Amino acid sequence: MIRVEFVRTGYSVSWAGGRLVDLCDDDVRAGIPFACRHANCGTCRVEVEVGAPLCEPPDDDELQLTEGVFGDGPTVRLGCQLRASGDGVLRLRVLL
Ligand code: FES
Repeated sequence: MIRVEFVRTGYSVSWAGGRLVDLCDDDVRAGIPFACRHANCGTCRVEVEVGAPLCEPPDDDELQLTEGVFGDGPTVRLGCQLRASGDGVLRLRVLL
């Protein structure tokens, strides 16, 4: 199980893993805003403060937006694209 900690809201929850957007849709206390949900807008950008090894690597569309458009480093991910699995802590800080 993954312990997901949302820095902005102070909320944390145990999560079996999968798509972060599904977790957030099921529980609004996560506090990550979404708009396009297709790696086009950057509304959902989060900094992974802890737990990067739990996350699947970003695909080309995500990298094009985070690195190419926003100039983000590798710790910034799109909440709408992020998938995670394993056991540990995943601490996310919303950038918007
Ligand atoms: S909601 Fe638009 S990039 Fe994630």
